[in-house]
Amino acid sequence: MSEARGFRDAANQSMVLTALYIAQEQYGHLDEKALERVADRLNLPVSQVYSTASFYSLLHTETKGKYHIQVCEGLSCALCNGADKLIEYLNQKLDIKPGEITPDGLYSLEAVQCLASCGTSPALRVNDELYDDLTFDKVDRLLDQLAQREET
Ligand code: FES
Repeated sequence: MSEARGFRDAANQSMVLTALYIAQEQYGHLDEKALERVADRLNLPVSQVYSTASFYSLLHTETKGKYHIQVCEGLSCALCNGADKLIEYLNQKLDIKPGEITPDGLYSLEAVQCLASCGTSPALRVNDELYDDLTFDKVDRLLDQLAQREET
């Protein structure tokens, strides 16, 4: 391998995350077509691109709701009685379990590992926005805000 090609390959590999994020914005989620397009553009194997896409909780290889709710089930949140109770609460409110989408396509739910907000746990993320130090009242207000966005 030439030095120039090695540099180009390394540069392409360093762009995978950014390219996947942009593709997700365009396609909604990273389906086979999106992964193939990123792999093609960066001249990388699809398996390598899929491996990266499936590793990061900010990237989604499956269809999600318009508001994708990720509840942290990491240790700090678990110790604050966060994950299980929040998931149970959201299950009651939205009638979906982790891995499911509401019939109207608005909400999906997922349990994920640490959201890097351990000091203010329990935490969850809706799309790219983090919500921490959660209580059921705060979850209610959050769901109300999301519902209001749909009304406007
Ligand atoms: S364990 Fe939940 S934010 Fe870190």
